[in-house]
Amino acid sequence: MTILVTGGAGYIGSHTVIELIQSGYDVVIVDNFSNSHPEVIQRIETITNQTIKYYANDIKDSEAMRKIFAENAISAVIHFAAYKAVGESVEQPLKYYENNVSGTIALLEIMQEFAVKTIVFSSSATVYGADNPSPLTEDMPTLDANNPYGYTKIVNERMLKDLAHSDPDWSVVLLRYFNPIGAYETGTIGEDPNGIPNNLMPYITQVAVGKLDQVSVFGNDYDTPDGTGVRDYIHVVDLAKGHVKAVAKALAEAQLYIYNLGTGQGYSVLDLIHTFSETNDVDVPYQITDRREGDIAVCYADPTKAQQELGWIAEKTLVDMCRDSWRWQQNNPNGYQAGNMND
Ligand code: UD1
Repeated sequence: MTILVTGGAGYIGSHTVIELIQSGYDVVIVDNFSNSHPEVIQRIETITNQTIKYYANDIKDSEAMRKIFAENAISAVIHFAAYKAVGESVEQPLKYYENNVSGTIALLEIMQEFAVKTIVFSSSATVYGADNPSPLTEDMPTLDANNPYGYTKIVNERMLKDLAHSDPDWSVVLLRYFNPIGAYETGTIGEDPNGIPNNLMPYITQVAVGKLDQVSVFGNDYDTPDGTGVRDYIHVVDLAKGHVKAVAKALAEAQLYIYNLGTGQGYSVLDLIHTFSETNDVDVPYQITDRREGDIAVCYADPTKAQQELGWIAEKTLVDMCRDSWRWQQNNPNGYQAGNMND
């Protein structure tokens, strides 16, 4: 059975491709490499010992997409392809709506044309906004987001819900990710942010490896045990495995499904910095700075529904996440740029 993975060369997409292949699926990737590197494909091939079929196209290119659907017997799509930088989305909202929303519409139209009506969508805990209390459950309202990136997730969710209601043949899974970190255990694929990282873990690893001076801890006056922000960090390999369970569920019975993919455990910024330092025996200098605009104090999942309905549970610990992020960073100080693999 063949799964089309949009954005399959990205951070979460690449890990998901590996888990799909290891579970016996055939995979086709479509990725325009706008925020990923073609080198990822070779790394996936080495890990899986398989040739990966991929198309270097944009999902908004309907002609190219038609060719992909005509050439492959696709049963379902896992849709990752999207922009994801919160700050950039505030500065360039149209770029985000155009790529993330128009891109999804273009994809869904082609799927409809080829009667492929099973999709797993890459959503985010950001859809819960600032007002819902943690632990967050799937039935909470998702009307509020404090940036355009977050709204593109809400709009896409809404569009997919409407589609599922309009036609019972559509099978739609909305997966709301918490904070993915970590890397594949070989240390050969991982997160490769453009420029200075926005997210905490890639910032920590770049400080630890000496590329950046120190971590700025964005506020220590939140209403949390140590005053710093609390998040539900989840190992990207656990997250990837959640997609394999989700696509199987969607293929078995056409429905609308919504699941949180998180651990259910909250850790603070200082917890993460200290665990990283101790696990890897490396210094991570930091200083407390002002809060970052738009941040909330606490965000963690209630992952019960995914456990009950998908039989999925996050298995890796914060120590695993810190160890694997560090292995990736050390092996690839310049990400996927050529010439920095040890092997
Ligand atoms: C961020 C996005 C969210 C997106 C997610 C994807 C914002 C406001 N939110 O989530 O929409 O879905 O990434 O991965 O950008 N922190 C520091 N110093 C840093 C970086 C972060 O102290 O240099 C703190 C933050 O204040 C927060 C925690 O670390 O408490 C995690 O931050 P981050 O990794 O950016 O993720 P989120 O903000 O939770």
